[in-house]
Amino acid sequence: MDPLVIFTPSGKRGRFPVGTPVLTAARQLGVDLDSVCGGRGICSKCQVAPSYGDFPKHGLTVSDGALSAWNEVEARYDRVKGLKEGRRLGCQATVQSDIVIDVPPESQVHRQVVRKAASTRPITMDPATRLCLVEVAEPDMHEPAGDLERLRAALAEQWDVTGVTAPLRVLQNLQTALRKGNWQVSVAVHRPAGSDMPVILGVWPGFHEGGLYGLAIDLGSTTIAAHLCDLSDGRVLASSGLMNPQIRFGEDLMSRVSYSMMNPGGDAEMTRAVQEALASLATEIAAEAEIDPGLIFETVIVCNPVMHHLLLGIDPVELGQAPFALATSGSLTFAADEIGLTTIAPTARVYMLPCIAGHVGADAAAVALSEAPDKAEALTLIVDVGTNAEILLGDQSKVLACSSPTGPAFEGAQISAGQRAAPGAIERVEIDPASKAPRFKVIGCDLWSDDPGFTEATKDSGITGICGSGIIEAVAEMRMAGILDASGLIGSAEAVGTPRCEAQGRTHAYLLHDASAEGGPRILVTQGDIRAIQLAKSALYAGARLLMDHRGVERVDRVVLAGAFGAHISPKHAMVLGMIPDAKLDNVTSAGNAAGHGARMALCNRAARSEIEATVGRIEKIETAIEPKFQEHFVNANAIPHATDPFPELSRIAPLPQVSFGASGGGGAENGGRRRRRRA
Ligand code: FES
Repeated sequence: MDPLVIFTPSGKRGRFPVGTPVLTAARQLGVDLDSVCGGRGICSKCQVAPSYGDFPKHGLTVSDGALSAWNEVEARYDRVKGLKEGRRLGCQATVQSDIVIDVPPESQVHRQVVRKAASTRPITMDPATRLCLVEVAEPDMHEPAGDLERLRAALAEQWDVTGVTAPLRVLQNLQTALRKGNWQVSVAVHRPAGSDMPVILGVWPGFHEGGLYGLAIDLGSTTIAAHLCDLSDGRVLASSGLMNPQIRFGEDLMSRVSYSMMNPGGDAEMTRAVQEALASLATEIAAEAEIDPGLIFETVIVCNPVMHHLLLGIDPVELGQAPFALATSGSLTFAADEIGLTTIAPTARVYMLPCIAGHVGADAAAVALSEAPDKAEALTLIVDVGTNAEILLGDQSKVLACSSPTGPAFEGAQISAGQRAAPGAIERVEIDPASKAPRFKVIGCDLWSDDPGFTEATKDSGITGICGSGIIEAVAEMRMAGILDASGLIGSAEAVGTPRCEAQGRTHAYLLHDASAEGGPRILVTQGDIRAIQLAKSALYAGARLLMDHRGVERVDRVVLAGAFGAHISPKHAMVLGMIPDAKLDNVTSAGNAAGHGARMALCNRAARSEIEATVGRIEKIETAIEPKFQEHFVNANAIPHATDPFPELSRIAPLPQVSFGASGGGGAENGGRRRRRRA
């Protein structure tokens, strides 16, 4: 009987004649074992770990000679590059007798990428662009066929890739590469899911060691974030970001749409600005990862609809007025140089996820891909907090989506001492309810401001301002400490009982930090700051509440805070503020940058692209701008945490003092000052 070969962890098994290469056995059994060089002993992607000894579970004893002895190819590979102890090259080692063979994760084609946040879905590698080493027949005068035609025949025979085409840029290099490689070339084959039109994006003589890379870009209205990924294993080699240069045309989306309406050619100006920013971000991130930007062959971009249109050079004017028609809501695939992305491979492809609706973009689609509310049993509310909040509510039965214009306050803009999340920015705040004294943490230092050594530790960065998560905690802590009433008014020094409450005209401000004696800033939370936060959080809550109305529920089971910023928000403080509906605190989690994760999924896995295209088709879109209830929800959400909705879970964990600093609630505190006693 032929020897039995058992692969782990798949458990796949079969009998093969003595002398069968392990790679061949794996392929015949459908075992997930990688190979770029097609079994030529060059790429080392096919590494396996044979196991010897007794395997009662399999009823097998594996003897020492179950695989062939090391051959010259393996020995050379070990000499030059080094093979890990116990590893063999699957294409070189052959079966001699019964054997158990483990395929380590890094040798699996469809390996899973380690995930960062527990709630995000793992990524299974199956990128659209892959590297193949091909042996091409030499030209023959008697059988005239072009180099490309013979390469196509070789790809069909050796890699089962048929119908491949090559753009002119590849063709221009093909002859040199083939001759330089002595008829052996590596080709980057781009094959999107469901496409029978594979395209060659790059060709190199011999075995290409430089790798293939991809960019996952989350193009936000305020910031642009990019991850540079290795397309062979999904590793993030560098992450980088920059401010969206379109900010100079308007801070939020609607002001950019207005800019386009009011200024002929304004849309083209904004298009140029963002395209140039992407091109330089690609150069920067490649430099950071120390790779050739010319090896970036894939880019996935997620963004909101206005960014989507402006990036593509489409006037966003239709998105500024009902019925908010998109030029296209479908996913898009095109050449990178069509959007000015000329700093990466000249043949690179761009994939843009589909938009959900005129106000709910491809970024929300990416969040849906990453968080998969459509697969959840619990009714899940996902809020991606940004200048424009994207909100999803749903479970296995149905998913609803909307967006809400929160403005840039959560990102530290429109806040008197607001700043971007950078070293020196206050990010955590606690206020003692008795003394009303604050303590805080700044980005770049693990110590609290009242810990010994804090001054020394923050000497370099200084204490420069408050970032988005800091202002949320500051306002919530002020409310919990009785410095701020439910209507959002800051009390006077007398009313609150601390000189930290300073009069500013007809209103008051709370002093968080004073470094003026050392020539530093005085950082205050002003009444204007509170108003800005109230507007932002009311928009967010109203959007969520509207979806709950449509779903016919008063409560949700889970709340997921998504977005780079969402990752830093404390669930308790978000609830005190009334940004999100009341829920069990344990069921409020952060998903990190879910849109960015969704973009990475689409970059590393072709099927994820078809999956989200199908999911988006099933999501029900709710347009906040034309919903009459939105305004009512917005007004009620102005109070902190809320004028009418009960917050039973919140009152269990953080009972709020019943203080009131102004009868009218209209912005003055001079007639206030009566402080009711804190309720237990
Ligand atoms: Fe490339 Fe074995 S398949 S080294």
